[in-house]
Amino acid sequence: MNTFINAIEISKTICKLKLRNGDIAVDCTMGNGHDTAFLCQLVGEKGKIYAFDVQESAIINTKKKLQELNLLERAELILDDHQNIDKYIKENVKLVIFNLGYLPGGNHEITTKKETTLEALQKCLELLEPNGIILCVIYPGHENGKLEKEALGSLTSKLSQKDYNVVNICFTNQINNPPELLCIEKVQFSRRST
Ligand SMILES: C[S@@+](CC[C@H](N)C(=O)[O-])C[C@H]1O[C@@H](n2cnc3c(N)ncnc32)[C@H](O)[C@@H]1O
Repeated sequence: MNTFINAIEISKTICKLKLRNGDIAVDCTMGNGHDTAFLCQLVGEKGKIYAFDVQESAIINTKKKLQELNLLERAELILDDHQNIDKYIKENVKLVIFNLGYLPGGNHEITTKKETTLEALQKCLELLEPNGIILCVIYPGHENGKLEKEALGSLTSKLSQKDYNVVNICFTNQINNPPELLCIEKVQFSRRST
């Protein structure tokens, strides 16, 4: 089957490039656990995934999915807002993913919001290990997503290039504002200014 490029597929490809057995990663928007399960597979038996969601149904559905795949031992499922990430994670992490917005088929009122997304992202920048990466799939086709795109873009475009690589991947020839992928990679060593 052919796979076409889109924000989610590109983010998965980057996850595969970055993650190795034993790595620690975070899924900031667990939903039904598709991404959490994918990350659990990539970090192997020695790795660990922290996953957050504000909906109890997300914890239940993800737990079931991970049990079926025999991956539950690799995950810590946390029922809390990702803006509180620093209360739960006290170690550096290799990769963080945000799949923003609301759960398709779920309650559209329960959606990520600009203020809490920004706070979570700032905390994730602190948690990231050198060469680690944050991947945000953003949905600018709806109002909240548009606001998140503006706020995240404003914050991340001001990050020093000595410390971070920031890339925004968007389709330039498609209508209706399709999903975009914002990547923030912590550089290995501070670059010398030239
Ligand atoms: C697009 S869905 C994520 C899909 C998910 N990655 C998957 O594989 O099924 C967005 C999720 O973010 C959750 N969410 C919304 N606001 C949140 C917040 N402040 N903290 C944590 N999760 C949040 C929603 O409950 C929803 O499940």
